[in-house]
Amino acid sequence: MTERPLYLMTDPGCFDVCYQINPWMKPDAWKADPSACLTAAKTASGELKQALQGLGAQVETIGAVQGLPDLVFPANAAIVLDGRALPARFRYPERQGEEAIFREVFCRLKTRGLIDEIVDLPEGVFQEGAGDAIWDADRSFFWAGHGPRSSRASLSVIHKVFGQEVVGLELASDRYYHLDTCFCPLAGGKVLYYPAAFTADALATIRARVPEHLRIEASDEEAQAFCVNAVNLGQRIVMARAPDSLKAKLAGAGYSLTEVDLSPFILSGGAAYCMTLRLDRKSRPERAILA
Ligand code: ARG
Repeated sequence: MTERPLYLMTDPGCFDVCYQINPWMKPDAWKADPSACLTAAKTASGELKQALQGLGAQVETIGAVQGLPDLVFPANAAIVLDGRALPARFRYPERQGEEAIFREVFCRLKTRGLIDEIVDLPEGVFQEGAGDAIWDADRSFFWAGHGPRSSRASLSVIHKVFGQEVVGLELASDRYYHLDTCFCPLAGGKVLYYPAAFTADALATIRARVPEHLRIEASDEEAQAFCVNAVNLGQRIVMARAPDSLKAKLAGAGYSLTEVDLSPFILSGGAAYCMTLRLDRKSRPERAILA
């Protein structure tokens, strides 16, 4: 059996930036030339898909839905591990319409045998999917962000649903509103992260769990380029266009980089990681995938 990583992406046909629920979102920039922006978004999304496929991954693409522009960020759809999906509950009304769409998607994936089980979040708990719950394959636990979007109460739910340790990290700023904007565990145990995004407690937690020689700190410029929001497969990393400083750090740490111009999506506050959702992640992989 071939074990190729499987990612969910969304057709960008209905993407736009028409509201503002994070400080990066620039509706005015989009409005200045919507058709050029949409054309650029389609190109960018296609290039990201190709980059993943080029690394041996499979990509399952779901259809666009008019009126739900942020559906292009399926990392927020659910947490998925060991065939179990915990669909998200979104903080802002602007994205809540995505919940029903993604639920249908997970039901269809279940019918096809790509997901085994769908579990419900309890009422009143916000949790924005894998954007705020990142599986650390080397350490075998979830790093879970909370604060701007996901509730602190989501941490114990994730623990119960997946039977895995959950290490909570409180996010200190509205600019780094999902954990995936400022934190990226890499194969081999290294972690790329942006220290200023975290509360003092969260920073102490990261530093207690990840020894210094495994920590790669992103600068302001690198974080603002949405480069921490990256997809990692073995020694390969796919991310938005990166400053030279970051290219040098990652090369020095032994990773090779594929850059994609994701600027249309950065106008909405998202990039490579959040444009994808890994569906086949196992807590105990039978063998290394693309090591
Ligand atoms: N405009 C979207 C929002 O604010 C962007 C989401 C990006 N997703 C992520 N996981 N960082 O919700």
